[in-house]
Amino acid sequence: MTHRTLLLFASAVLVALAPRPLSAATFRAVDPQCEGLTSPLLIDTTTPRFSWRIESDEKEISQAAYQLRISEDSVGTGSSRPLADTGRVESSQCIGVQVPGFEPHPKGKYRWEVQIWDRQGQSSGWSAANVFETGFMQTPWPAQWLSTGRPVAKDTPARARYFRTVFAAPDGMARAKLFLTAQGLVEPWINGRPVTEDRFLPGWPDYRKRAYYLAYDVTSLVKPGQNAIGLILGDGWYSSTLLLQHQYGTSPRVSAQLEITDTNGKVTVVATDQSWKWADGPITENSIYQGETYDARLADPAWCRSEGNHWNWQTPQVDAALSAELTARLSPPVRRIQEVKPVSVKELRPGVFVYDFGQNLVGWARLKLRARAGQEVQLRHAEMLEPDGSLHLANLRHAKATARYVATGKDEETWEPRFTYFGFRYIELTGVPNASQETLTAVVVHTDLPRIGTFECSHPLLNQLYRNAVWGQKGNFLEVPTDCPQRDERLGWTGDAQIFCNTALLNLRAGNFYRQWLAALRDSFVDTPEGGYSDVAPDIGFRHGSAGWGDAGVIVPYTVWLQTGDTAVLEENFPTLQRWIDLQASQAPDGIRHSQESYGDWLAPGFPPGKAPPAYELIATAYFARTTELAAQIADILGKSEIAAKNRALLQKIKAAYRRAYIADDGKIAGDVQTSYVLSLGFDLVPAELRDAVIQQLRRTITEKNDHLATGFLGTPMLAPVLTQCGLTDLAYKIVEQETYPGWLFSVKNGATTIWERWDSWTPERGFNPDGMNSFNHYAFGSIASWFYETIAGLRADARAPGWKHFFVAPHPGGGLTYAKAEIVTPHGAARSHWTIDKKGQFQLHVSIPPNTTATVSLPGEKVKTLREGGKASKRKTVVNAGRIEVELGSGEYAFSVAL
Ligand code: BGC
Repeated sequence: MTHRTLLLFASAVLVALAPRPLSAATFRAVDPQCEGLTSPLLIDTTTPRFSWRIESDEKEISQAAYQLRISEDSVGTGSSRPLADTGRVESSQCIGVQVPGFEPHPKGKYRWEVQIWDRQGQSSGWSAANVFETGFMQTPWPAQWLSTGRPVAKDTPARARYFRTVFAAPDGMARAKLFLTAQGLVEPWINGRPVTEDRFLPGWPDYRKRAYYLAYDVTSLVKPGQNAIGLILGDGWYSSTLLLQHQYGTSPRVSAQLEITDTNGKVTVVATDQSWKWADGPITENSIYQGETYDARLADPAWCRSEGNHWNWQTPQVDAALSAELTARLSPPVRRIQEVKPVSVKELRPGVFVYDFGQNLVGWARLKLRARAGQEVQLRHAEMLEPDGSLHLANLRHAKATARYVATGKDEETWEPRFTYFGFRYIELTGVPNASQETLTAVVVHTDLPRIGTFECSHPLLNQLYRNAVWGQKGNFLEVPTDCPQRDERLGWTGDAQIFCNTALLNLRAGNFYRQWLAALRDSFVDTPEGGYSDVAPDIGFRHGSAGWGDAGVIVPYTVWLQTGDTAVLEENFPTLQRWIDLQASQAPDGIRHSQESYGDWLAPGFPPGKAPPAYELIATAYFARTTELAAQIADILGKSEIAAKNRALLQKIKAAYRRAYIADDGKIAGDVQTSYVLSLGFDLVPAELRDAVIQQLRRTITEKNDHLATGFLGTPMLAPVLTQCGLTDLAYKIVEQETYPGWLFSVKNGATTIWERWDSWTPERGFNPDGMNSFNHYAFGSIASWFYETIAGLRADARAPGWKHFFVAPHPGGGLTYAKAEIVTPHGAARSHWTIDKKGQFQLHVSIPPNTTATVSLPGEKVKTLREGGKASKRKTVVNAGRIEVELGSGEYAFSVAL
């Protein structure tokens, strides 16, 4: 061996012996999640589910097998003990994976790691360790509940209360963790600093049945020696007025437990009890609808420090323990998400300034000013202006939506409210004589869900409509899916929620948000004849079981499962949703759902609310069929084949009854409005032999309206998708692109920056709709955005392989568009579709398919011979189907073109 070969040999041996870097594999498991959360500090389930996605630059990557192992960490001592190992499991599943035999115990801290293999048998190596921690898991909540014992009179904005105690930290502290719950809204502080930027804690459950709790790692806030902990307690949804009622209680309550673990694993507990004190603070008024008043002169920066505070501290009342179930929060909380500067400031009258933020948004304004001591500043909020430039307040109804600040007079002062929020584009500011652009900055506030969907096309008004739909979601995803964010309502209307749910799940990663809200929806269920799910969740005493509203209990879990692929949401909701099917069946011996009338095709143009055709009974029966069909599918997915069969038999009965009662032999359907047809076609209630005739009737109802829509809440979301299913995408484009009333672009042409509640919330002829129920930020009609993703760009989930394990890329060009592009960050990674039509009539399509998924890509046309891939004649196996060329693809990036 020469010197040189020896050297080469030695280095080869060294390379072979060196630990193989993880990057050696061409793929790896990333984005590890437990129960849809990254390193959660608090989960309460005994059967946690694990997910990851695969990252790779290679094409056609799929997972052949995985192995997942879990060990337990001992808090404080740092020791770790192996607990469970799946061994190698031959499966491509990477969403909602369970570990048989693993049962976490309360207050545990666990690590988990995963390794995956590809089809060639190559391993990714073990991932980095990820952690998760468990909560009380149905064991009793140990801390006492404190209140002031001072009830708040109905309709009176209450003063927020401050609770505090001091404690000594043990020597050798390794970790401090704060558990927190409340009936009301709470902001935790330690040693003069807020524990978190999270807002509206602990959220809004159905307080009668449930309380949410949270956990924070506060190790960095606790110092050796004396410490102070404080809790600011607002009224929120618990005890400020909701609609016209005082809903849950007259005074909020709070309970917290700080656990400090030392390096030997010994735990010291500081829990709310009678030794705590409470005092009134500077928040002199707080209410969700009315707003907030802050008298800065009353503030004491030392209120939550161990020394030097000077408020009048009193002994709290210790309340009885809760009978409601304590549930760990699953959804991310509300946070301050973005800031918007004013686009203009006008002095309406001397000292009265109107700020325009250029966007109808939800949150509040940060006030920055220099003022004299005692100067009162007032901010009123509105979505629109009257012709004279003053605020349009009629549509707020009883909501005062006012923030007030009383200045200290010292230096520059800044303030933001905490326990209220507003829906506004405009703010009227008084009390700041020298107000400027800098005085106010809008702070956009909503549940902190990552944005996963984007869409753009060559039509500027459609792009604005899409943006309006996204802003509508931002504005109405504040803890629960609300109908509107501005007036004295802001409730979890279930109809609105189910209509918008698919769109919502494409815009933002909203799976856990809905899973949590669905607990409130289940809590609302009653088994009485006029019962079922409430029309509003959390339930505040509205009616139950309205068709298209109460049905959210079935439609939302199904849609969440479709988009996320996680069956947990089905398991959690199945028992109650089956009760809903059974309850309806018990009232429909003949297959027709006879029940008390309700909203129907709410707000269809030209009809008073709730009075639009088709008849309520038709709508209720159509939804009865749809929910029964979904319940059969869900039962199948969960392996409950007997219930699935029972539901299918029921479905046949409903369909036969529907056909007899509502569909004439010439294809005319009772009510003879667009909604009659789209419900019947979209819910598959039309026998095959009548389908063409029914489609012709639908066409006629559209022609009669001059190619405009005539649909309300229930017909609108289905109109364009049903037209596409019926091969009438061109007609759908025509309707969507109408700029005149009634249509989506009518509001856009008239300056809308969010979706209006009514097709005619404002018209040039009449101005504002005279009805007080007239929100300018109601997301329901924004459901059209899912048609943008699913049809214009063509990215659509597949119920046979949920969570985008398999999906469709089937763009439908039309409406004169020359390009469209969309991206959806699916649970497996980003799916993209980007098409253009060039001057020669070539349709170009760029597609991204994430690792571990497959897609059916279809291009318009039938000229297979002109199909090119990557600039060359395509050699792929293709299928021509209904005027489209289809190819099956694995993961990767692809570029196709075809002659149109
Ligand atoms: C809400 C709606 C809701 C409806 C019920 C309204 O007040 O704002 O969006 O679905 O009532 O019909």
